[in-house]
Amino acid sequence: MSNSMWGGRFSQGPAAIMEEINASIDFDKKLYRQDIAGSKAHAMMLARQGIIGADDAEKIVAGLDTILREIEDGSFTFSRALEDIHLNIESRLKELIGEPAGRLHTARSRNDQVATDFKLYVRDWLDGVDAALAGLQSALADKAFTHAGLAMPGFTHLQSAQPVTFGHHLLAYVEMLARDRGRFRDARARLNESPLGAAALAGTSFPIDRFDTAAALGFDRPTANSLDSVSDRDFAIEALAAASLCALHLSRFAEEIVIWSSAQFRFIRLSDRFTTGSSIMPQKRNPDAAELVRAKTGRIIGAQTALMIVMKGLPLAYQKDMQEDKEQAFDAFESLELAIAATDGMVRDMEPEAATLKKAAGSGFSTATDLADWLVRALGLPFREAHHVTGRIVGLAADQGVELARLPLSAMQAVHAAIDDRVYSVLSVDKSVRSRTSYGGTSPKNVRAQAKRWQRTLERE
Ligand code: ARG
Repeated sequence: MSNSMWGGRFSQGPAAIMEEINASIDFDKKLYRQDIAGSKAHAMMLARQGIIGADDAEKIVAGLDTILREIEDGSFTFSRALEDIHLNIESRLKELIGEPAGRLHTARSRNDQVATDFKLYVRDWLDGVDAALAGLQSALADKAFTHAGLAMPGFTHLQSAQPVTFGHHLLAYVEMLARDRGRFRDARARLNESPLGAAALAGTSFPIDRFDTAAALGFDRPTANSLDSVSDRDFAIEALAAASLCALHLSRFAEEIVIWSSAQFRFIRLSDRFTTGSSIMPQKRNPDAAELVRAKTGRIIGAQTALMIVMKGLPLAYQKDMQEDKEQAFDAFESLELAIAATDGMVRDMEPEAATLKKAAGSGFSTATDLADWLVRALGLPFREAHHVTGRIVGLAADQGVELARLPLSAMQAVHAAIDDRVYSVLSVDKSVRSRTSYGGTSPKNVRAQAKRWQRTLERE
């Protein structure tokens, strides 16, 4: 049997394999709420413009509300023969209200319909992700405030570089997430134009009011070019690009959590709630949640790449290729939500191991830069010479197997005679971090102020 929605010129139904490759209902059913909202706005506009009768519009709206309830209570039967969410809903509407259902699709095509639905979906997701990221930022800011003065090693090349504080390290991620949120906000602002009414590709001869439907659906304005309206998937790619970068940030943090929670580092303790055991090795506490956050990045970047590849060769306007825009995007969106939630949970539960952190902060001659800076300040050496002198002192300390703060003054004086015992005042980890008072630096006072600033900003949102 030919398709009841578009089968007028067909005498045969589709091959089974055609149905298999063509049907998108298994994944685009996620758009049901947006599809119904779009259809209601369209029907009411058609009535206001006198294109359909007010009584028909009322029946359409009531029928769509029934369908919404049916889908949400699980009594709606989705059919693959009806291809996608749009035709599934329209077909059910016909069963429910009869002839007026056929008037809904006046001055509309599935091309502008799906673009509208997907935009509304991405917009809802962007709003949700912004709230979730704000939550994670405040979890990080709270932890950072509590541990603003707790020294830990700062690394470059994963080698001890200079001591920093645990709070400072966490606040670095708050900044990254702030940029991510900015990108999501930008994407939302650019997305927020309504494609509805572009119809198949050329607009319509019916006297529709696109400003009316745009406003009803919370869009800032209608899109200006009907061809672009139905061909554009920038909004999804842009959301995925911002999602990729956000996932990349979460992945870097996850990697640090994996390293920090290892027995060799023991910088933090993850809660039982976010670790798993091994079925053979009784001592294990595996950071699976962090590992999976790290791994989800692959799907998210993959979805962005996939959609760009789908789009890159398409002539205007709508091509069926574009149906492949949704499935991986949905997966990426859900993966990022999950990664944010898991990171949020890990952060709230994690406890830094203060003693290990402090000890590690002082190892690896991490205050060597402080010594060089002191030689510049106290003895007036040029920095390059101070660097050289310090290097020789570090060499001595390494030979003797002691940290800089424990190296006898005589040993330092053997390298540079003018060094006196004031030098010890800069060699401790606490002194080192306390001295980093330049704007954005790691001094506990700075970190406390920055954490407070974030807490206030996030509370005010
Ligand atoms: N399921 C389709 C999609 O997701 C809807 C648009 C179909 N339009 C068409 N002319 N076949 O892209």
